[in-house]
Amino acid sequence: MEVVQLEMKGGVAHITIDRQSKLNALNEVVLNELEQVFLDLKHNEEARVIVITGAGEKSFVAGADISQFPSMSPEEAHSFAKRGQAVFSIIESSSKPVIAAINGFALGGGCELALACHLRFASENAMFGQPEVKLGVIAGYGGTQRLPRLIGEGRALDLLLSGRMIKADEALQIGLINAVFPQVELLSKVEAYADLLMAQSPQAQALTLKAVYRGIDTTLSQGLDAEASAFRDVFKTEDRIEGATAFLERRPAKFKNR
Ligand code: COA
Repeated sequence: MEVVQLEMKGGVAHITIDRQSKLNALNEVVLNELEQVFLDLKHNEEARVIVITGAGEKSFVAGADISQFPSMSPEEAHSFAKRGQAVFSIIESSSKPVIAAINGFALGGGCELALACHLRFASENAMFGQPEVKLGVIAGYGGTQRLPRLIGEGRALDLLLSGRMIKADEALQIGLINAVFPQVELLSKVEAYADLLMAQSPQAQALTLKAVYRGIDTTLSQGLDAEASAFRDVFKTEDRIEGATAFLERRPAKFKNR
């Protein structure tokens, strides 16, 4: 791959977007490679948790590549948004937990990429924003939809309408991210958290993700139906017997992903 690197460390798949000369901005090559790596990881039994970060110390992803905008027709813009949305939906629908390790600028498509991940941990120097209005355009990779769902309509509209950038502490305060760490500690903290995730039942996590995202997409009663179905399906696994048995035997559970 040209700009997306994958490194396996134990059960953690570390994905790094490396286009540092453009602050890791997303172009077609980045999107294609991100899509490919997520499709590959789906079938990779070794990978239990996925971490995405940006190369370098300055930027996670500074947005979609703006150089594509001037010549873009409205119809091309529609396809452009659909393409980014499709790749981000593959990320969101991963059955393995996906963590964004946000090591710097997460602007526009970069913030939207973080929103498509299941969990977001940031370094103290991270900056967030949806600055599209400053370019005379709007968020097109899911920002108008995932941001209000995550932080509420009022806070989302503040960011989407003003284009202002916020620091990591404000992002934490408004619930945009899960935690903030000093930059030098970010990856070790994320790895420690990944270990915590890897100690749990993978199938229970996959079914939790399924029920949560199904619920976000629908009414409460349909979401509750989705939860009950997932609860039924988790009782088809061997790991749920191991989980309860280990508790009763006062020992840590050893899940087998079965
Ligand atoms: N698309 C394309 N190129 C981008 C980019 C983007 N979204 N963000 C940064 N770059 C490029 C710059 O053009 C520059 O390239 P160059 O050296 O060939 O001129 C390089 O990355 C470094 O960026 P620069 O602006 O010089 O760094 P800075 O530290 O002065 O500013 C930012 C950093 C993030 C504040 C600034 O780059 C920025 O505002 N980027 C655009 C963010 C944005 O609007 N994203 C949403 C897009 S829809």
